[in-house]
Amino acid sequence: MSTTEALPFAFYGTIIHSSSIQSLEILEDTLLAVSASNGRILALQPNTPQDQVDKTLAALDIPASRTTRLRRGQFLIPGFVDTHNHAPQWMQRGLGQGMHILDWLSGVTFPNEARFRDPEYARRVYAGLVAGMLRQGVTTASYYGSLHGEATCILADTCLEKGQRAFVGKCNMNRNSPDYYRDASTEESLAETERCISHIQTIDPSSSLLKYVITPRFAISCEADLLAGLGTIASRNPDLPIQTHFNEAEQEVQATLSLFPAFTNEVDLYSHYGLLKPRTILAHCTIMTDAETQSLAALDCGIAHCPTANMTVGGGFMAAPVRGFLSRGMKVGLGTDSGGGFSSSILDSMRHALIASFSREAASAGREKGLTLEEVFYLATMGGARVMGMDDRIGSFGVGKEFDAVVVDMNTATGGVNAPVEEEDEIRRVFDKFLMTGDDRNMVQVFVRGQKTHAL
Ligand code: GUN
Ligand code: FE
Repeated sequence: MSTTEALPFAFYGTIIHSSSIQSLEILEDTLLAVSASNGRILALQPNTPQDQVDKTLAALDIPASRTTRLRRGQFLIPGFVDTHNHAPQWMQRGLGQGMHILDWLSGVTFPNEARFRDPEYARRVYAGLVAGMLRQGVTTASYYGSLHGEATCILADTCLEKGQRAFVGKCNMNRNSPDYYRDASTEESLAETERCISHIQTIDPSSSLLKYVITPRFAISCEADLLAGLGTIASRNPDLPIQTHFNEAEQEVQATLSLFPAFTNEVDLYSHYGLLKPRTILAHCTIMTDAETQSLAALDCGIAHCPTANMTVGGGFMAAPVRGFLSRGMKVGLGTDSGGGFSSSILDSMRHALIASFSREAASAGREKGLTLEEVFYLATMGGARVMGMDDRIGSFGVGKEFDAVVVDMNTATGGVNAPVEEEDEIRRVFDKFLMTGDDRNMVQVFVRGQKTHAL
């Protein structure tokens, strides 16, 4: 690192983040300074007049060359959090739309994921995935790997190399898939899990970016003793998060309960095996009884809402009852789900969450109020940070928090079809146009923990 690179850096301009689930905070003429040594925000001063900017920068020891002055149409937002992403499905996005979940898994997904037995293939695909997610402003992701330990360690190495914050877990799955794509035994599945845990602890001992996430694919894929073994790993490592698929589709819920007849629902099942904790991320939660929702709220589990997947793969083609989760104060974030759907963009997830909620409002004769733009933006940033237990570090801007951010530029001549910014547009209109029509061409710089991880 040269001496200049060790100095703090700053932005001066408009900064937008959520101050609560209902409220967006638009801070104008704001000076935001970041420590280059630990990536934390050193100063955040809204409404700083032009003539005080230089003085403040000098006091903070920040040279003019390390200060970016944002123009009209440009603003900073917190990086997006993808709370549910299958890394090996990067190559299969868009395939098998409209299929029921178990048919889609056996027909499309397992043959695709099996290819990650080849470490070279994994290295190549994961390099494209992590770069592709960063360029879409996803600074943090919770990844399911394939079942292969080696490929999963390669995914963790790739996130660290490219600077993405991530949970990474090897999929545990030792039944109900073909021989060519199944853990050989419970013992091997657990041993491979332990190997991946140690690998991640070795490459990032302070968890600056990475954490292993315990990842039973779902109960249909796991023998009871595998679920029990993973519950034991979870209780021995209380800091490790857990993720699984939960109440995703009718076909899946029925198959689960027939495999585990001792349980009447998935809450009882997964909690019996010690897998429902405040650090657990449950993907989908589409078909929920009131009692199940109440239990998950009491257990303080986080929900990865994946509207794109809910409406394209699975069989229900109806998104989760998010309003009900939010009204109980539950932790909810957004997930792209990758192959379960067609998009790896959190902007798309926000739009689909919005559209799906409007449809639920109509279908419930107004009982379930649709989401607002403020709410879906919160879910994509602070909501995801809460689900991943990182809201003290990321999700919004504040002194002491780590600088995970996207520089948005709606002036860019993208050649795309996003709604153009007009001279008289106020910043809130520009922001709305970005959320509803923008894409990666408008994300000109992406930072994670103060490091630039992508620039156009
Ligand atoms: N349930 C078990 N595995 C999967 C998967 O890969 N995607 C989705 N959407 N649901 C699952
Ligand atoms: Fe999924």
